[in-house]
Amino acid sequence: MQVTWILPDGTTRSAEVQPGRTLMEAAVANGIPNVHGECGGSLSCATCHVVVDPEWIDRTGPLGDFEDAMLDATETARAPTSRLSCQIEMSADLDGLRLVVPGG
Ligand code: FES
Repeated sequence: MQVTWILPDGTTRSAEVQPGRTLMEAAVANGIPNVHGECGGSLSCATCHVVVDPEWIDRTGPLGDFEDAMLDATETARAPTSRLSCQIEMSADLDGLRLVVPGG
């Protein structure tokens, strides 16, 4: 299953991601810039912020209350489809997912 990240400079990077892996883990494993996952996925750093392509947002699962609050404290500005990528698990439904990496 493939995920594509659109980087701040407009270039794209794609990688195969195994089901059950979080999108933060996939980003870190593939060296995606600006996605750090400093807390290891325990929902306490917000350094895994990504903006989901609006066409895909309905498939990424519900936004948790705490995740919602954390998104107000990200280093890069929040967008309507912002998510913390440690809270999204790869699944067959997400094959082809596109994520925008915020920041400059
Ligand atoms: S990795 Fe820390 S909040 Fe997602």
